[in-house]
Amino acid sequence: MNGNLIIKNAAELVTCSGFAAKQGREMVDLKIIYDGAVLIKNGVIEATGQSEDIEKRFKKAGADQSDFDMIDARGKAVLPGFVDSHTHLVFGGYRAEEFAWRLRGDSYMQIMQRGGGIVNTVEATRQASAEELLQSGIQRLNSMLSFGVTTVEGKSGYGLDQETEIKQLEVMARLDQIHYLDVVPTFLGAHAVPEEYKGKQDAFIDFMAKDVLPRVTDQQLAEFCDIFCEKNVFSIEQSRRLLSSAKDLGLKLKMHADEIVQLGGAELAAELGAVSADHLLQASDQGIKDMAAAGVVATLLPATAFSLKEPYANGRKMMDSNCAVALATDFNPGSCFTESIPLVFALATLYMNISTEEAISALTINGAAALDRADQIGSIDAGKTGDLVVLEFPSYTYIPYHLGISTVEKVIKQGNLVYDKENGGIIHC
Ligand code: NIG
Ligand code: FE
Repeated sequence: MNGNLIIKNAAELVTCSGFAAKQGREMVDLKIIYDGAVLIKNGVIEATGQSEDIEKRFKKAGADQSDFDMIDARGKAVLPGFVDSHTHLVFGGYRAEEFAWRLRGDSYMQIMQRGGGIVNTVEATRQASAEELLQSGIQRLNSMLSFGVTTVEGKSGYGLDQETEIKQLEVMARLDQIHYLDVVPTFLGAHAVPEEYKGKQDAFIDFMAKDVLPRVTDQQLAEFCDIFCEKNVFSIEQSRRLLSSAKDLGLKLKMHADEIVQLGGAELAAELGAVSADHLLQASDQGIKDMAAAGVVATLLPATAFSLKEPYANGRKMMDSNCAVALATDFNPGSCFTESIPLVFALATLYMNISTEEAISALTINGAAALDRADQIGSIDAGKTGDLVVLEFPSYTYIPYHLGISTVEKVIKQGNLVYDKENGGIIHC
């Protein structure tokens, strides 16, 4: 595995070319090269173009073909690896019983208010050893990889105490080291109010800001700070306070914003210069305008709305207002237990009035932008990391068309073939 690879004869090389978030109408242009080829050297994309041109260029450089692996992608589409920019992938235990309660008519917030929900997973995560969290994390990343995900964001937030929050973040750092996927860590210490702080939200925010955050930043365990800003969880004022402290300590910001009640989370994300605001089912028109103006990526999580039977976020309005929209799974044990990229594509295209082209931008270049990595991943451009997927079909249009089924045949990570459906799945080195 030396990261040297040529892919040629791709029916469509869907480059999604660009080094920054695509806003509004820019999202429809996928910058496709027909009969395309990519040259990857030492894990980094060196050139893209038509197959003939890339071959000529290769010969002219006098490079030794035997140093390069070759994939003939005739009859197949090639895309950037998907970027799942919002997940909660490290947790202990499961909450299948809550799914059954929701089927009987209980709402997510009702379950949370009577002591279930997130704090249930907190209990199990506090009890789990780092090794157990690591092993389940590996299984989950394997599943994500099979859907074509090459970079994933993961949040803490199932500890709500110093020790367990740090344990979750350390597990993510370890997963990032040992697994093919890149794992981008987010500190979500303010995900819910733990039993021991019941009724004392402000004191809990102080504890997170003064005790836990500095430890997280000292040990460089997170790139982002996030908060569940929601009625009966954390208010706008509490969110402003914690996120401002995080920003002062050098973290970039994300928010679970305007998910169930319209609180003004989108406006706050814009005010604080957050990289993304996520969920946004109830975002106000002003909030949408503010996000577009401030360049906040609107990260939409349709599988969560589907699972909670809530109305979908108004992605159409956001794009028409010139927002950059990203899509992600929100994989977590409560509101949305799925790592399925095909499900996200299906819901976005069939129920949110998002076109296939926009959905692809939302899961590639804009997912990268939601992680502040649009200069490194999310498109097939020279200079970017060689993270790609090869579909088993000739066009990207098959992605939502093959309903709920993954069309990914191969996954390339840093120029190495790491998943091949035809040859037993994940390739272990
Ligand atoms: O993004 N909304 C809050 N947090 C998660 C759910 C976490 C859980 O239920 O365990 C979400 O949906
Ligand atoms: Fe979430």
